[in-house]
Amino acid sequence: MSGARHLYVHVPFCAHRCGYCDFVTVVGRSGQHAAYVDGLLRELELERGVLAGELETVFVGGGTPTFTVLLELVRLLEALPAAAETTVEANPETVTPELARALRDAGVTRISLGAQTFRPELLDVLERVAGPDDVRRAVHHLRDVGFDNISLDLIYGIPGQGASDLEADLDEALALEPEHLSCYELEAKPGTRFTHAWGAELQRQADAMEDYFERVVARLSGAGYRWYETANFCRTEADGRDLRARHNLAYWLGRDYLGLGIGAVSTIESTRRRNTPTLGRYLEALAAGRAPERDVEPLDAEVQARERVMLGLRLDEPLPLAGLRTALDPAGLARAERLGLAVDGGDTLALTPRGRFLGGGVTAEILA
Ligand SMILES: C[S@@+](CC[C@H](N)C(=O)[O-])C[C@H]1O[C@@H](n2cnc3c(N)ncnc32)[C@H](O)[C@@H]1O
Ligand code: SF4
Repeated sequence: MSGARHLYVHVPFCAHRCGYCDFVTVVGRSGQHAAYVDGLLRELELERGVLAGELETVFVGGGTPTFTVLLELVRLLEALPAAAETTVEANPETVTPELARALRDAGVTRISLGAQTFRPELLDVLERVAGPDDVRRAVHHLRDVGFDNISLDLIYGIPGQGASDLEADLDEALALEPEHLSCYELEAKPGTRFTHAWGAELQRQADAMEDYFERVVARLSGAGYRWYETANFCRTEADGRDLRARHNLAYWLGRDYLGLGIGAVSTIESTRRRNTPTLGRYLEALAAGRAPERDVEPLDAEVQARERVMLGLRLDEPLPLAGLRTALDPAGLARAERLGLAVDGGDTLALTPRGRFLGGGVTAEILA
């Protein structure tokens, strides 16, 4: 094994906590940004041995990496290994011309911008800081300094949203001509303040989700985007440039990756580890030169095969089945084929477009 070629770096700081968010985040704390970057760089030193000499992708996610004190963010980016694709997640209101230039100069090649929606009243429901104009301005600032790979995140199924709001969001997003779009169903965790506040309306949205999903796929496919993963779309370029998110593709293809930072997950040589989500404990360990506390889970062959099938069937390319047959239920697979939801090609397995709409349900049927 020649080492992991994919690196994820978690930067947890945010201006405030959006009600629907379930990521590992820390509000404010500008006084601790420098110590956190020190911690990340120490953890990178400790783990460097598991990385390949050359990386394919680096993904700096959050949290809001671009909320981090700029000097510290740049110090981090400049110290990270170079990669063919380096993505940074950005929140629209943080993208100034200065930030855009700094990201470009630090070697970032791709920006993932959290737009979520362009309806002001729905942005309020999500408790977002950015308004629709911030999203447009951010894209223009990024284009002005030469970024040619921008992804926009949209969320649908927001309390108060209707089909026409979603169609308008898709139009507004397409007008910005992003290279890539991620469109997620809103997930509301039971027991959270957000779910409590919007209970009945969330149920109405859940009933509309299938219709929304079909609208998203129809509108973006109609605009020439490739529906290459359940929730992800990319422009197809005349020059053949592949605009799929290479970093996320590595997860979906079951490749090894190293994760640094609080709450970060790694999968290396059949072992999954998750770092402590607690900032204080993470900083304390690394300041003492120790690895942070981690949950460690060995992945046996059966678990890995099931994961490969679950993730691989999210993609639009057939899944090579070598070594994966034992994870499949022949009767379930035959049923899915009869219903026109899956195609067993012998060496490969793929879902049909209808099967991809039904997604996880079909995969569950096919798995042993
Ligand atoms: C790591 S998150 C947040 C990145 C960035 N701080 C932001 O807010 O845009 C990446 C993406 O996950 C999606 N997301 C976050 N929480 C979600 C939820 N509860 N349901 C669906 N999508 C969610 C959003 O589209 C978001 O842009
Ligand atoms: S800004 Fe992004 S990461 Fe931070 S709380 Fe909001 S959704 Fe979560």
